[in-house]
Amino acid sequence: METITVRSRDVTKRYAVRRDMSVTVLDGIDFEASGGRVTGITGPSGGGKSTLLYCLSGLERPTTGSVEVLGQPLEKLSKRALLLFRRQHIGFLFQSYNLISGMSAKANVLLPLRLAHKKVSTERIDSLFESFGLSAQREEDVSHLSGGEQQRVALIRLLVSDPEVIFADEPTGALDQEMGRRVIAELDRQAHQYGKTVVLVTHDPAISASCDVLYTLRDGTVVSRQGAADGRAESRESD
Ligand SMILES: Nc1ncnc2c1ncn2[C@@H]1O[C@H](COP(=O)(O)OP(=O)(O)OP(=O)(O)O)[C@@H](O)[C@H]1O
Ligand SMILES: [Mg+2]
Repeated sequence: METITVRSRDVTKRYAVRRDMSVTVLDGIDFEASGGRVTGITGPSGGGKSTLLYCLSGLERPTTGSVEVLGQPLEKLSKRALLLFRRQHIGFLFQSYNLISGMSAKANVLLPLRLAHKKVSTERIDSLFESFGLSAQREEDVSHLSGGEQQRVALIRLLVSDPEVIFADEPTGALDQEMGRRVIAELDRQAHQYGKTVVLVTHDPAISASCDVLYTLRDGTVVSRQGAADGRAESRESD
């Protein structure tokens, strides 16, 4: 029996663009993701994929609607409590990496561990740098690294924190095919071997096809949800 770990109900997100005008970026999103599964989100650029990930992970508050992660309604948490909850349970891979320049790759990886008072062995950290081909870049200032290298540092930073719920916004966007495969294989392992919840955004049809469940988002609404529910193929593709 699968456990739903991330759930949104009727989530909308509006941004005020001028005093008298707002844009609706998300319009009534019902979403579910489960432990042990990779749930994908795809769809055209500007459709709201990143915004949805921000709302599901508590980085942004929805304008209306509710989000529950690991049974915790996020809207019930104060700003501070939400920060601590995220730090404890949620990992986020940003489309733009969000590394801190002026700090080495390794220092970037260690920072969230310090903040969360988590301890990870040096061996584990070094072996992650090695498996993503970055041993030589460990001490390098991240601003000197290529986009693909920064993307992998961000992944290592996430993996060492060992979060139960992983959000990844186009985690292979800057990677060549081989490295992209390795990153997706790692995210698959996190879900299928360790039971983590993985929610990832992708434009890549091959990655979309490998997800257990796939949402397609267009103009802020879910236009289809495809995939297995308890092993039964389920599709409610709209026309
Ligand atoms: N802070 C903001 N203020 C106003 N509009 C915003 C804001 N953030 C996002 N948007 C708008 O919301 C829409 C959806 O953006 P979002 O980044 O979620 O799309 P996306 O599906 O992730 O696109 P991409 O595939 O290009 O990454 C865009 O039209 C964007 O301009
Ligand atoms: Mg995006």
